Amino acid sequence: MIPREIIDEIVFRNDVETVIGSYVTLKRAGSNYQAPCPFHSERTPSFTVFPATKSFYCFGCGAGGDVISFVMRAENVDYVDAVKLLADRAGISIPEDGEQSERDGISRKRLYELNLAAAKFFRECLFDPQQGAEGMAYLRESRGLDLATIKHFGLGFSPNSFWALTNKMTSLGFTEEELIAAFLCKRSQKSGKLFDLYRNRVIFPIIDTSGNIVAFGGRVMDGSEPKYLNSSDTPVFKKSRHLFALNFARKVCAERLILCEGYMDVIALHAAGFENAVATLGTAITSEQARIFAKYTKRVVICYDSDKAGQNAANKAMRLLGEVGIDVRVIKLSGAKDPDEYIKKFGAESFRKCLDDSKTGFEFKIDKILSEHDVSLSDERIKASAEICSMIAEVQNNVERDIYIQRAAAVLNVPADTVRAEVARLRKRLVGEYKKKQSRDALLSIKNIGDRVNTDAAKYVAANDCEENILAMMIIFDEYRHAVAKGEIELTADDFVTGFGRRVFETLCALETSAEGYSRAVLGQYFSLDEIGRLEKIEVERRRLTRNDKEVFLAAIASLKAEKAATEGISGNDLLARLRSQRAQKQ
Ligand code: GTP
Ligand code: MN
Repeated sequence: MIPREIIDEIVFRNDVETVIGSYVTLKRAGSNYQAPCPFHSERTPSFTVFPATKSFYCFGCGAGGDVISFVMRAENVDYVDAVKLLADRAGISIPEDGEQSERDGISRKRLYELNLAAAKFFRECLFDPQQGAEGMAYLRESRGLDLATIKHFGLGFSPNSFWALTNKMTSLGFTEEELIAAFLCKRSQKSGKLFDLYRNRVIFPIIDTSGNIVAFGGRVMDGSEPKYLNSSDTPVFKKSRHLFALNFARKVCAERLILCEGYMDVIALHAAGFENAVATLGTAITSEQARIFAKYTKRVVICYDSDKAGQNAANKAMRLLGEVGIDVRVIKLSGAKDPDEYIKKFGAESFRKCLDDSKTGFEFKIDKILSEHDVSLSDERIKASAEICSMIAEVQNNVERDIYIQRAAAVLNVPADTVRAEVARLRKRLVGEYKKKQSRDALLSIKNIGDRVNTDAAKYVAANDCEENILAMMIIFDEYRHAVAKGEIELTADDFVTGFGRRVFETLCALETSAEGYSRAVLGQYFSLDEIGRLEKIEVERRRLTRNDKEVFLAAIASLKAEKAATEGISGNDLLARLRSQRAQKQ
């Protein structure tokens, strides 16, 4: 455990707006800040940072909490690791006591060591004339890679054995749990013994921007399936946050980065001198990755496979990269299925020309639509123009929309005003749909339908309201928490109706009466990120109300007690009657 005063100090020294501001671009809104939510994809910013309470909340997806919860979400780490990252950031050292860096018994440092050892083993196998002959022949002959490139990327080979890696790693002192956590081995259902996941494959290590090996990809050398095996997410690796070869590309990304689909594309491009190429890891680009791009460069050239799947993926990538303000260009290769093949067939100079001729996103999309329709036929031309207009209607910026309208009019050979009118009509519909969706979402959240955090809330709406008011006030105002914990105000866990409310209440009271005392910064140790988000929500809602005096607090408690009684079959009126008679007896 990290000492309480150190946690408080870490939170104190890491301004929530500064930390979050290093992940997203915050815009001032009164005394708060707003941004598009980094945890879900949205157009109008509903993500808010509250410097005064050192917290954040997204009104769209419900993510919320303090700076620790933010880092847990953003970096996909647990509470302790988030605290450590923030400690580093603020230059605070945490006293080591041996056990604390363990996570399920496995620390990040240990996994980095393990991955490094595994990469070394794979590389030794590749360079071993006996074991690695087939892998080496595949990489050099079938894929045309030279030795320098193979070494530069640290490529390797996993022998055709179920235990080669397992045995090697075990002999180096790594435990079975560590090997499983690193996604290198699995336990056999039958024998209970560990076996290698990567067998008879050429290995591509995935390296983060700090130079740590975080994951592996492995490719078969023939046509068998699956073609690639990639690491699942591990404590040190989140697929959606990594870009293959960014460790190299970040050094030469000032002008632009090239985004392609596969490991082999990136490797071929780097070998041909385009060291600014990166790839996502076998998945469509995520908004997190888009933000990583934005951190490193202003311009991205998308160079996906020339098949239909690749072109559709390019469309999505264009949108996500556009949303983070990147100038997006697209290359459509002809005569080759992907950049790797293109370079082999036509050479680096020819690829450079493609780069320089790359199209803007809008031109690419128009081309794509035009290529799918024969515009010399009038009904096809109508379809194409409908598609182009709906594409323009989605553009937020007025000036930008008008530029596209002019260009679309030119390619479709119709008057600009006709296109403009159609775009306006579609836009009105889009805005209407968006508003409808928002009010539907609001309604759903009011009714607590689909509430995963507090599963009882939908059943006990009134009681839940009371609980939320009480708990919010106990979190915000020290005096209510003191009074309840000391028994000055009569309220016990038994008065709570929902399981979640009860657990929050018990935790608050337990912390309040503990030796170290209550601190909001430690709530992350007791609740999941979704639960922390919910606590933030009820706080935010409470703060918006002006009346937070004791009378309100006591009234909420009285209503909760009445609700509780009602759920137990005693009507609220009975309870009131009982309370009155008790009071009468006392007097
Ligand atoms: P080559 O066929 O070797 O040229 O592969 P490539 O690198 O060009 O890959 P491709 O364009 O076929 O696929 C793009 C990326 O998707 C690959 O680099 C892998 O990361 C991923 N991928 C491809 N096939 C599979 C698969 O069968 N399983 C998984 N998990 N990922 C795959
Ligand atoms: Mn390929």
